[in-house]
Amino acid sequence: MNLTFPSTRMKFLGVLLSVVWLNACGTETKETAANGTATADYASLWTQVFSRCGGCHGVSSNTETEGGPDLRTQAGAYSALVGVKGSAYSSWTTFQRLRSECAGKAFIQAGSAKDSMVVAVLDSSVSLGSCAVVNHQATGKVNVSAANLAVLKQWIDAGAKQ
Ligand code: HEC
Repeated sequence: MNLTFPSTRMKFLGVLLSVVWLNACGTETKETAANGTATADYASLWTQVFSRCGGCHGVSSNTETEGGPDLRTQAGAYSALVGVKGSAYSSWTTFQRLRSECAGKAFIQAGSAKDSMVVAVLDSSVSLGSCAVVNHQATGKVNVSAANLAVLKQWIDAGAKQ
């Protein structure tokens, strides 16, 4: 019967919408999910690692990260981190209060992973001396695999090219 046709279509649309919605939520929970392994280039590292940071870094409603690097977009995250020192974010009050010793350290020091805050914050075996960052993995903020950490360091040591 012709009259049932629209409702069948509506049901189909409903199923389709819930699939799309579930997928969107799946993307948001990437922050704690184990991802695939990146290759040593920025685009791949963005997909596997850095795209998981913008849920906190760059969201103005997050008072702890407000005023710090905005990591919500691929290009924005690169320019907010590479060659940029802690002192550049003078209005990031949480960071300036807790990590004043990190003012002279770069988030990503091109050519030297062992001097990069981004590495230290993900890898507890990397220490920046008096700049004592709190490991994000230990505090459950993000979960980056050992394989992706190794690729991240390799990319930074090779010059952190965009
Ligand atoms: C669940 C929220 C959250 C996520 C996700 C997150 N961060 Fe953070 N991050 C914070 C907060 C809050 C601070 C500041 C407070 C602090 O120092 O612990 C911070 C601080 C930092 C610092 C400065 C060092 C420090 O200890 O303050 C770096 C570097 C950093 N984050 C890098 C990253 C990177 C890279 C990612 C993605 C791989 C990431 N963060 C994902 C919440 C988050």
